[in-house]
Amino acid sequence: MTPRERVLVALDTPSPGRARELARLLAGEVGGFKVGLELFVSAGPDLVREIRDLGGEVFLDLKLHDIPNTVGGAAAALGRLGVSLFTVHGLGGAEMIRRGVEASREAAAAAGLPAPRALVVTVLTSHDDRDLGTIGVRGPCADAVTRLAALARDAGAGGIVCSALEVAELRTVFPDGLRVVPGIRPAGAATHDQSRTATPAAAVARGADLLVIGRPITRADDPRAAARAIVAEIGAPPA
Ligand code: C5P
Repeated sequence: MTPRERVLVALDTPSPGRARELARLLAGEVGGFKVGLELFVSAGPDLVREIRDLGGEVFLDLKLHDIPNTVGGAAAALGRLGVSLFTVHGLGGAEMIRRGVEASREAAAAAGLPAPRALVVTVLTSHDDRDLGTIGVRGPCADAVTRLAALARDAGAGGIVCSALEVAELRTVFPDGLRVVPGIRPAGAATHDQSRTATPAAAVARGADLLVIGRPITRADDPRAAARAIVAEIGAPPA
């Protein structure tokens, strides 16, 4: 994987126009784009197709969590949409993950498209040990993350979304899974509301495959220059 291919830009905006503008500006500079709930609910599948047609990977981050039949139906629609990556909640259980994986594969194959990878979200980073207790999940968070990563592996998921702090441990638990890591901040950059951050190079050194990066690129005065600097940092030999 080249340094450029490792960078997915989070298009966190409700504005289809702004998302389109950023995607056109950055296509070719990065590996692809993440479309999350905010943009998907605002702009829908047509914008996903448009971004996909710019040539990069599309990561549709809708964090599916429902009964297996419903997740299977949504995953089939994602498979037909031609996205490369999508998310499901590990807390939905093994059968839900399995149905999502199978349905997305079958639908993509029927449409002549490559199979998307289902990424499992373990514990939301907005939850701490106490929050987990209140929803009846055995803690601490780190143990729940490991448990859900093993569940994802056994249910046939393609990888996991995790923080840079968990990535080394999860490499052991789920060695064949793609490790997708948000919360990335270049050295010296503003952390915004992210508390457990890592630099792009450090995250890759710990075992991250793909880096999800939003505001350090999308809010930069020159997003293309910011993306190029990050790609160069990943590619540079360790200091
Ligand atoms: O702007 P920033 O680089 O913080 O954006 C990170 C992206 O990754 C956002 O889309 C955010 O929702 C997502 N994300 C995260 N932490 C997680 C999971 C997803 O920041 N644990």
